[in-house]
Amino acid sequence: MNITQETIVGELVAKDYRTATVFKEHGIDFCCNGNRTIGEACDKKHVEVDMLIENLLHASADSGNTNIDYQSWPLDLLADYIEKKHHRYVKSRISEITPFLQKVARVHGERHPELLQVEYLFSASAIELTEHLKKEEQILFPYIRKTVAEGPGRPAFGSVENPISVMMEEHSNEGERFEKIATLTNNYTPPEDACNTYRVTFSLLKEFEEDLHLHIHLENNILFPKTIEMEKQLSLS
Ligand SMILES: [Fe+2]
Ligand SMILES: [Fe+2]
Repeated sequence: MNITQETIVGELVAKDYRTATVFKEHGIDFCCNGNRTIGEACDKKHVEVDMLIENLLHASADSGNTNIDYQSWPLDLLADYIEKKHHRYVKSRISEITPFLQKVARVHGERHPELLQVEYLFSASAIELTEHLKKEEQILFPYIRKTVAEGPGRPAFGSVENPISVMMEEHSNEGERFEKIATLTNNYTPPEDACNTYRVTFSLLKEFEEDLHLHIHLENNILFPKTIEMEKQLSLS
């Protein structure tokens, strides 16, 4: 694979998700801010670009770890997959994490006041993400499926670029919120005195953030740009 300073971060991850781990290790956001070049992202994070490119090449040549080629999937399949895998996951984990976090904040909040902030941030995320998923499931994804099956109609929202830009804005908000949660929890590292529930809660939160990154990546870097492209192509023909 050819990777240079000019390669777009999100496009590379869309081609090969194995490279996401390398970006993550260097604190480079590949989902909400995936539209940067590797050179720009390295500048911002003070990462040595040649070393990063070498690590990326290494990750994409890792034969022990196969890459799922989401880019080759039809868009209705990708929308179904995102909804059935990632949306279901978000919903079930919100109801699992919320009571754990409330308990941990109540019991340990005095010694670890950051837990109260984490609980506040996560509950805001739970409310807004639930609304966000509903909009995708009730408006955007049905439009994608219908366009794949029947061609472009006359949606109430005008061009699909309109709801997509709202969704991307909401992704950025969630990305920022989870960046704060990661900072407050020292990257989900429980303190020495943490009890079992505390540890489990942190590992659930960490997994939740990782799943959210893949979920947002699939939408921002693959599903959404391809949907805009499909609408353009179909309206030209
Ligand atoms: Fe989604
Ligand atoms: Fe989304």
